[in-house]
Amino acid sequence: MKTIFITGGAGFIGSHVVRRFVNNYPDYQIVVIDCLTYAGNLENLKDVDSKPNYKFEKVDITDEKAVNDVFARYQPDGVIHLAAESHVDRSITDPFAFIRTNVMGTCNLLQAARTLWNGNWEGKRFYHISTDEVYGALSKTDPMFTETTRYAPHSPYSASKASSDHFVRAFHDTYGMPTVISNCSNNYGSHHFPEKLIPLAINNIQHNRPIPIYGKGENVRDWLFVDDHAAAIDLIFHKGKIGDTYNIGGNNEKTNIELIRTLCRLMDKKLGREQGTSEKLITFVTDRAGHDLRYAIDSSKLQRELGWQPSVTFEQGLEKTVDWYLANQDWLDNVTSGAYQQYYDKMYTNR
Ligand code: NAD
Ligand code: TYD
Repeated sequence: MKTIFITGGAGFIGSHVVRRFVNNYPDYQIVVIDCLTYAGNLENLKDVDSKPNYKFEKVDITDEKAVNDVFARYQPDGVIHLAAESHVDRSITDPFAFIRTNVMGTCNLLQAARTLWNGNWEGKRFYHISTDEVYGALSKTDPMFTETTRYAPHSPYSASKASSDHFVRAFHDTYGMPTVISNCSNNYGSHHFPEKLIPLAINNIQHNRPIPIYGKGENVRDWLFVDDHAAAIDLIFHKGKIGDTYNIGGNNEKTNIELIRTLCRLMDKKLGREQGTSEKLITFVTDRAGHDLRYAIDSSKLQRELGWQPSVTFEQGLEKTVDWYLANQDWLDNVTSGAYQQYYDKMYTNR
């Protein structure tokens, strides 16, 4: 039996990766390493948390001793590292939280894995999940980011992720650690914390609250359905070439305003409201500082070398997402009320 750590497994993307691995690999022991920040929600994992191959460890990756302890206890064969501070707006307010978790936390994990594996790399793998934001911003006409695009991060978030990517490569190049990195575009789907654009807009539309659009809404993001990201992670973890980087993206470039208008029409249809009702909630607000104009990612290497393909179109993925939020009002209510933060105590401390 292999033991795999999935850090950040209680977050948005991490929970989809955990669900996939727990269900598809019964002979792996999956250990979620997560300290449950505001973004960590164990309700995301309630459909798998009674499975015999699932374990949860509340560990803060910035705590070097706790990280070393958990590595010594479980002796993992692999690490899929998703734990991070992930919201650009929060990084503008508090950059040091991002440096602590994304840079120092990643280095603690790398160092603990190096100590445990001690040069015996056979069957071992450290997989670091990163973002396309490390490549900086494109103009409207620039070609897409490829794996060889020069790093040029702008926000404290993307600078901290770029730094962590460099440390992962440094551990491969210096010590021979079997690492792999992927850089993915914006994800959307179920269990997405409602501070990010799509779930925030869904929540606000339901409650007839304004939908804040930064600047003129002309910024472009390249959207990928989260289950397709989880499938790519599975493939890269098992088949990716050691020391390599893979870009992951859905080839779905949309301006924010175009995306929100599409979402408004869909929400009107689903809520049985007259077409045009939700669009009236769109409110242009002060732009984000240093707001990157455009991200677009070329994932042809992943498609060519490992045979990955997205399984849904943007329209299908968006409809699945809206349907999930409308069917899971409790999840959203628990997040917005803060009740989700009691789940750990209920599950693990009998309080
Ligand atoms: P998220 O914010 O939803 O979840 C992050 C998880 O990490 C949470 O469960 C949180 O509790 C945990 N965490 C944070 N700090 C921690 C610490 N110090 N110790 C232990 N656990 C900690 O993030 P997400 O959107 O699921 O992103 C996951 C990863 O994917 C991140 O590394 C992010 O950079 C990357 N990524 C995200 C996107 C996207 O669109 N969301 C796109 C590309 C890459
Ligand atoms: P976000 O979901 O925060 O992801 P990222 O900053 O990592 O791309 O934002 C997606 C886009 O939506 C980005 O261009 C910023 C914009 N945005 C808004 O216009 N309004 C909002 O309230 C938020 C949260 C984001």
